[in-house]
Amino acid sequence: MLTGGGDAPGLNAVIRAVVKAAVNANIDVIGLEDSFDGLLYPSRTRPLTPQSVTGILRLGGTILGTTNRGNPFEYPADTPDGKVDYSDRVVETFHRMGLDALVAIGGDGTLAIAHQFFLKGIPIVGVPKTIDNDIVGTTTCFGFDTAVAFAADAIDRLHSTAEAHRRVMVVEVMGRYAGWIALHAGVAGGADVILMPEIPYRLECVAEHIRQRERLGAKFSIVVAAEGAIPVGGEAVLLAAARAGHVERLGGVGGQVAASLEPMTGKEARCVVLGHLQRGGTPTAFDRVLATRLGGKAVELLQRGVFGKMVANHPPDIVPVPLADVVGRTRKVPVDYDLIGTARAIGISFGE
Ligand code: F6P
Repeated sequence: MLTGGGDAPGLNAVIRAVVKAAVNANIDVIGLEDSFDGLLYPSRTRPLTPQSVTGILRLGGTILGTTNRGNPFEYPADTPDGKVDYSDRVVETFHRMGLDALVAIGGDGTLAIAHQFFLKGIPIVGVPKTIDNDIVGTTTCFGFDTAVAFAADAIDRLHSTAEAHRRVMVVEVMGRYAGWIALHAGVAGGADVILMPEIPYRLECVAEHIRQRERLGAKFSIVVAAEGAIPVGGEAVLLAAARAGHVERLGGVGGQVAASLEPMTGKEARCVVLGHLQRGGTPTAFDRVLATRLGGKAVELLQRGVFGKMVANHPPDIVPVPLADVVGRTRKVPVDYDLIGTARAIGISFGE
């Protein structure tokens, strides 16, 4: 079993469920450290027993370590094109270690790598993870609920200081190319404006919404901006462009929006970037339960010899879906999602 990509609260709950369910079914579990690095460097593996997972249910992070830089098909290296293909070495190590199957817990990147290894003959079960909630084929990913709860709490706290200083507070949240965190945290936290990638915004519309609130007596405003929010006809703001072995890093839209809104509204504006705080901390009860269910289902698939699948949340069930149907796609917020309509109905602006 390995964990890959950015961490998300609930990874340890999956690890614990897989280990306990597997050991009870007489399956030995080996933990691979730092994603697929554990199959490149066999010293980075360790047996996982019920004792080794005691007490981890409530812990954020992952006891196995993780990386979003270690794709064995494009491993970062000092070569002319900056990468090297170690995938055959991974397959060899897998067989040399006498492993029967691999449980890969990760987001879109890790699941895509897992699918490539499935096509190279490794029996794989995928478990979806991400705070961004953007994996196709599952209605919810563990980690999302915890991230939203944290962001909503932050927005609650920012209300009092925004109101005290009569300021505009822009809160930048994660989510990459999907606005799930921005939308859910914005609605839960009572934001006035939500900017998300699925609904390109016009700054003038945001400013007018704030001025209108002012005219109605509300002297402060809270704007939630997804890191991937884009203006009409514009691009997402990047901290770093993509390069070999590294995906592009989003970030900075909140600061830009705050700086623009000051002269447009005549109000002081500040930006708060919640960043990796959204990925840290203890998972909510919802995420612990979902993670445990996904882990349990993964072991059931191992026992049945069902591979090349991702376990997915299809309420009220956890079901296997083909990895092939999941990879290379992003589950964006549908623009006809009822929460968007309700948000508009209760006076939240999307900057349109
Ligand atoms: O995919 C999860 C996520 O937290 C995104 O929301 C964010 O853009 C990205 O990971 C940040 O990754 P890193 O930790 O590599 O900066």
